[in-house]
Amino acid sequence: MRITSIFLVTLMALPALGARFSPEEAEKLYNTYCSACHALDGKGATGGTFPPLAGSEWVLGNPKRSVAIVLNGLHGPVAVGGKEYNLEMPPQGAVLKDSQITAILNHVHSSWGNLGEPIPPDLVRTVRSEFASRDKPWTAPELLKLFPLPKKKQTLENLISRIYKGQWNRIPDFSKIQAESVEEEHNGIIDIAVSPLKDKFGIVWEGEFVAPSKGEYLFHLDADDGARVILNGKTVAEVSGQGPMNGSRSKTGKVELNEGANRFRVEYYEFAGLEGISLGWRTKGMDDWELLTPAKPKSKSKKKFPDIILTPGSDKTVIYRNFIDGTTPRGIGFGFPGGVNLAYSADNLAPELVWTGPFINAGRHWTGRGQGNEPPAGDKVSKLTSTRFLPGEARFKGYSLDKQGNPTFKVSIGAAMLTDSWKPGETGTLVRTLSLSGEKPIEIPLGNAEITGAETISLTPGKPATITYTLK
Ligand code: HEC
Repeated sequence: MRITSIFLVTLMALPALGARFSPEEAEKLYNTYCSACHALDGKGATGGTFPPLAGSEWVLGNPKRSVAIVLNGLHGPVAVGGKEYNLEMPPQGAVLKDSQITAILNHVHSSWGNLGEPIPPDLVRTVRSEFASRDKPWTAPELLKLFPLPKKKQTLENLISRIYKGQWNRIPDFSKIQAESVEEEHNGIIDIAVSPLKDKFGIVWEGEFVAPSKGEYLFHLDADDGARVILNGKTVAEVSGQGPMNGSRSKTGKVELNEGANRFRVEYYEFAGLEGISLGWRTKGMDDWELLTPAKPKSKSKKKFPDIILTPGSDKTVIYRNFIDGTTPRGIGFGFPGGVNLAYSADNLAPELVWTGPFINAGRHWTGRGQGNEPPAGDKVSKLTSTRFLPGEARFKGYSLDKQGNPTFKVSIGAAMLTDSWKPGETGTLVRTLSLSGEKPIEIPLGNAEITGAETISLTPGKPATITYTLK
């Protein structure tokens, strides 16, 4: 009898002391003790209300950190994978044996693509005794002080910035100018906030671009006012002159890079007014740009795309060939110098919208992922026409742009050809010139009589007509 009970006690004690759990058993333990909050797939229960363990930086580096969390719990604000949580994880140290915690954490550290350190067999015991006197959950700052997160691999290493003072209207030769200050940028970020000056300054950043592999790299640069990015001594992309940072002047360039460190330099200057620089890179296998400049503060709206207001140059019309709200799928937008804008429908062979002020926000379609129609960015949008007016035989024959970017649309009507040219006139006006070849006159829709003075005109072959659209 005595022998049996000793035998039994030994049997029961064995798994608790020296037990090594199989991976299947470890997963079961995880499912029992953690998945209610962190989900079976580690992504955080209830659609991510709870923080994820999959891809969490908290399981990387010193493995004592996750042991400590499981033993004593965690409460208060904590950032996991770039998202803020402020919840409470109850301590599990009293419920779980050392061997169970070891098994669970080995499972967590090696599942869902996690690359955490393995938990040595006696680590849980060590951590338990190290913090034996602790009777409340950890806070994130406490843990980070004890067990800092491993340094994230940076793309830009050994980065320094030099700030220059001066007034230029193009990127100056910085080698000829004395820098005001030199700074080490340990965060590896190209940020103009390093400059104490708001206007009339320049910055040069220099360091190493650590390429993950050998191959072709794309760099996308935008700046207010000018900037260039130089790799291994070669200019890859340059935004020259002066102007806003809204995508209209942005440049993309490509370069072959070696794996590892490549010499990297960015030259930037700001004349006056708003300032900014945006620089991203990508290579094969990446489905989006990786930014080297600070991410824009997240806007409160749910918009998935950045604001990129297309703006005409001082004497150059800009064109937008994506879906525009208020016209047909083959609507083509033109933003003219002076702040008058037009959307022409190649389906209905007629101008459909005119408006004043900002032209259009190209952000929705900028990355190629945007969906839906973009409304004009400006105000006082006037609908001119919305149906097809010309005879059924009329066909769109394309458009051409003159040196200023002003369009001429061509429409064939049987054997006759209608040309329809647009350019900006005096402030707040658009000037349309129509001409027709062929035999007989034809009625052309002008749209809103308040803007043009008439709904239609009768156009005679060989007699061009000029109509002024007054948008004020
Ligand atoms: C009752 C819900 C609950 C249970 C059960 C639970 N956790 Fe947590 N866990 C949380 C919460 C909530 C946080 C974040 C606490 C905060 O906001 O400060 C967290 C944070 C963590 C973190 C750090 C942040 C992160 O997401 O990486 C780790 C690691 C972790 N838990 C591991 C575990 C493991 C392993 C188990 C099972 C032994 C477990 N947790 C069980 C709720 C829970």
